[in-house]
Amino acid sequence: MQAGWTAVDDYFNALLIPSDPALEAALQSSEAAGLPPHNVAPNQGLLLQLLARMQRARRVLEIGTLGGYSTILLARGLPEGGRLISLELSPGNAEVARGNIERDGLSGVVEIRVGPAVESLHALVDEGVAPFDLIFIDADKPNNPAYFALALRLARAGTAIVVDNVVRDGAVVDPAGDASVQGVRRLCELIAEEPRVTATALQTVGSKGYDGFILALVNA
Ligand code: DHB
Ligand code: MG
Repeated sequence: MQAGWTAVDDYFNALLIPSDPALEAALQSSEAAGLPPHNVAPNQGLLLQLLARMQRARRVLEIGTLGGYSTILLARGLPEGGRLISLELSPGNAEVARGNIERDGLSGVVEIRVGPAVESLHALVDEGVAPFDLIFIDADKPNNPAYFALALRLARAGTAIVVDNVVRDGAVVDPAGDASVQGVRRLCELIAEEPRVTATALQTVGSKGYDGFILALVNA
């Protein structure tokens, strides 16, 4: 199945996604630095960029920078004067990401904040920053419920929130799943009881295997 999923991604991507030396260099430098290959797939990354554009986003918040691959795709979807804040636990990852973002000429758009994301999110709340238009949650999965709850405090009516990796090869249906599965399941339960958002979850297959994402919109 994986070979077929990858072949279909390759087919669509060859036609729809122009080859992109800066993004390819970002992936290479991430791999060379030993980062895990947890970047979004090219077509998933472009979906994020399209969502940013559909939102007419000027302010994007990303939780989990890794090597900055999705960061770059999201930042490219912003208009002049747009701003992206990305939160990353690992100083080493942040260093790799900063290099990749610099190479793409986006250093003036992207700010990476290093440290535990829950702390960085509380700091953003305390600073009283303007609400974000799009929030992408793609960090450690056990903390998903905390990230979502804090994301809501940094949102406005109309903010879109995307959560990556909510299917995990189907393990999400296992009530006794690992800590990541528990993080996803508790997030789903939290969203189910949250009247402020309308949310859906979709399964995906492709070059990155079998996974999926949640898309939530903050209601008026
Ligand atoms: C994992 C994390 C990710 O963000 C991802 O896209 C794929 C896998 C992981 O922790 O296994
Ligand atoms: Mg992910």
